[in-house]
Amino acid sequence: MGQILVIANQKGGSGKTSAAVNLSCAIAPTRRRVLLIDFDPQGSASAALRVPRTQGALSEDLLNHRSLDDRLIVRTAAGFDLIPADEDLTALPALLRSAAQAELTLKRSLSGLKSQYDLIVIDTPPSLDLVTIMALCAADQLLITTPCEYYALDSLQTLLSKTAKLQEEGLFAGQLAGIVRTMYDADALQSDEIKNTLQKLGPQLCSTVIPYSAVISEAAALGRPVMQYDKSSNGARAYLALAGELISRLHL
Ligand SMILES: Nc1ncnc2c1ncn2[C@@H]1O[C@H](COP(=O)(O)OP(=O)(O)OP(=O)(O)O)[C@@H](O)[C@H]1O
Ligand SMILES: [Mg+2]
Repeated sequence: MGQILVIANQKGGSGKTSAAVNLSCAIAPTRRRVLLIDFDPQGSASAALRVPRTQGALSEDLLNHRSLDDRLIVRTAAGFDLIPADEDLTALPALLRSAAQAELTLKRSLSGLKSQYDLIVIDTPPSLDLVTIMALCAADQLLITTPCEYYALDSLQTLLSKTAKLQEEGLFAGQLAGIVRTMYDADALQSDEIKNTLQKLGPQLCSTVIPYSAVISEAAALGRPVMQYDKSSNGARAYLALAGELISRLHL
């Protein structure tokens, strides 16, 4: 049975999509079957793979509590499968408002697909609305991406508290796979407060750090994962190292 890895942080631009696309691309060649779900109506992961967004495909299945299946899946040139973003996901929270345990909608619709993959990666939007909550509640494992700056640490604490609350309510049954520092600039001065907060995370903090690297954004803009764009770049090497760390953390 495959594991569902949700990548989240309600802070915009914290490196979620970059991690979702590049981790999928790094893990697929290891012969593990990988499905990436672009669960952000903005569709950045789909755009980074040059796959158009749909209008209604995913959200109609969720709204009607149908299992997600092959009809939604696109095979990418990068060696993994993709469920592209659905523009209409933005309307889903309002439409599901009266549904019982709406938070569990995605988890229930995904149960059939879990046996077809070793890893299902879910990219989430920069918010904590029902779309992200549905993804969190579907997670077996949660990966939080965070830039190493003061305001980002605030978002990190909010997300950890929200996850703890969902766990108390019996809605989140996953584990924290790790917190990964993104856009890390080794030359920037870090305040003691940031260092102390990060240190307190202990083993939850991934040892791999994703450096600030222009190659990562160049590759995304050209619709290519960074390891296909420039596999010897420090950005590509960092995501390969993070993939290795996650394979071990998740016992994949
Ligand atoms: N390590 C990095 N170094 C330099 N640029 C990066 C790095 N990681 C991501 N970027 C760029 O920063 C921007 C935001 O990254 P990304 O889209 O991965 O974040 P996000 O958390 O998914 O954003 P959103 O919250 O809007 O979905 C993008 O233009 C991306 O190409
Ligand atoms: Mg994104």
